Amino acid sequence: MISFYDIFMFPLERMGIKKARKKIIHLAHGNVLEIGAGSGVNLKYYDFSKIEKMTFIDSDFFEVIHEKIKKKNCTIPCETIEMDIEDLKFEDQTFDTIVFSLVFCSVNDVMKGLSEVKRVLKPEGQVLFIEHVLPHKKGFRKLVQKVAPVWFKFSKSCHLDRDFETSMISSGFTIDQIYRTGNTIFTSGIARKK
Ligand SMILES: C[S@@+](CC[C@H](N)C(=O)[O-])C[C@H]1O[C@@H](n2cnc3c(N)ncnc32)[C@H](O)[C@@H]1O
Repeated sequence: MISFYDIFMFPLERMGIKKARKKIIHLAHGNVLEIGAGSGVNLKYYDFSKIEKMTFIDSDFFEVIHEKIKKKNCTIPCETIEMDIEDLKFEDQTFDTIVFSLVFCSVNDVMKGLSEVKRVLKPEGQVLFIEHVLPHKKGFRKLVQKVAPVWFKFSKSCHLDRDFETSMISSGFTIDQIYRTGNTIFTSGIARKK
């Protein structure tokens, strides 16, 4: 019950993503939406005792997520829906927690996606995020900037050089807590509506 994606991600998980997942994902509570859930990597980090309902969306799920959910034997409603983050089919102010990890690097229109996140989040709701961004250290930053166009062509969608934190703030979120891991290439934290 492991996908090629999970194997590919193994070294990156060890580099700092796993640490971020452990710190952030267990804070999800109430009615929870995870966007871009992929192969369901975050499943093992949720504290399901705090969750009333769990909805996973992705524009292109990895099959393995269905097996992982089944194995969890959730006692709460838990569903997977194919959906685009830029056009969320949910009512305004539906979710207490919205989770995404490593998603906005490949979303077409980041501002549109974030405005949808803001729309479906309850006024007192929280966003738990993990993304990769440009690192702080000059040398490492330059290297990532150089590799970015090649990686974009190879991956067909992933931007290594997006300024996710600024996009969150411009979209009307306040970032309450922020952590950088993996030599500062991974940003994670908790955000709320301004
Ligand atoms: C790099 S994977 C990350 C998977 C997982 N969240 C993780 O932490 O490893 C990005 C996921 O986001 C999904 N995705 C990208 N753009 C999307 C969009 N516009 N709407 C919904 N899902 C999207 C992809 O299909 C993919 O499963």
